[in-house]
Amino acid sequence: MGGHFEINRANWDDRAAIHVKDEAGGYRVQAFLDGADNLHDIEHEEIGDVSGLRIAHLQCHFGIDTLCLARRGASCVGLDFSPVAISAARDMQARTGLDATFIEGNVYDARELIEGDFDMVYVTWGAIGWLPNIARWARVVASLLKPGGWLYLLEGHPSLMTADEHSPDLRPGFDWRTPADKPLTMSEETTYTGDTAKIAHPVTHEWLHPLSDVVNAVIGAGLTLEALNEHEKLAWQFSPLMVPVEGRRRMWVLPQGFLRLPLAYSIRARKT
Ligand SMILES: C[S@@+](CC[C@H](N)C(=O)[O-])C[C@H]1O[C@@H](n2cnc3c(N)ncnc32)[C@H](O)[C@@H]1O
Repeated sequence: MGGHFEINRANWDDRAAIHVKDEAGGYRVQAFLDGADNLHDIEHEEIGDVSGLRIAHLQCHFGIDTLCLARRGASCVGLDFSPVAISAARDMQARTGLDATFIEGNVYDARELIEGDFDMVYVTWGAIGWLPNIARWARVVASLLKPGGWLYLLEGHPSLMTADEHSPDLRPGFDWRTPADKPLTMSEETTYTGDTAKIAHPVTHEWLHPLSDVVNAVIGAGLTLEALNEHEKLAWQFSPLMVPVEGRRRMWVLPQGFLRLPLAYSIRARKT
């Protein structure tokens, strides 16, 4: 793996260790172990019945969402490049006995690392911003799908992600497209869950991908776009302005009186 990935992996190893402890409760680890389904309202409403499907979950973190898909009757493979996350995911699988396996590796190597073809490739909440080349990512996704299989992608919306999270009116903070060879260098001492533990490797390299780049990458990889939806809720508190809303699982919205903006988008695209 190259320099960007090494920098990000060190950061994600630190975050995974904090998230698994779940001291702030954002990942609902104990509820999950007690049998709860942790998927948010948006993906719950959009993915439909997954029982009997083979699902590849890319950038699965420590596996809770993967295991929730398995709890709904799917047979899942999760992949993530963080060894700390994958070790925790395997531990969760062992404790629950759900139908999922976990593979450590870079998403760009997924076709070589994961055996077989899938009914669904599942990618949600904070995944593609860690990847420099979105067209290459889409080709990996397409290579994992069976004919008739589909991609489900649910991500933070560029309208929000290009904003300066600390500005009181969410004014633009970043160019709308990040060149592959010039990532945004960020540094955050704590993680997005509200845990107060310090991240030992706070620096990350990240990329903003315009919606058109993502859609065109998916089409360019040979998939047929079936749905593109925009949503007014996000799975994490991007800005201190945002307020929580309860649902199947807590999500975040802009406060009353603020301009309405799309905060997330989802794509369903099929390999025909
Ligand atoms: C915000 S988390 C995704 C959260 C996920 N939706 C979940 O189920 O909790 C982003 C994940 O992407 C992983 N990641 C980042 N870059 C990656 C890469 N190049 N290859 C594989 N995994 C990567 C990180 O290790 C981290 O677990």
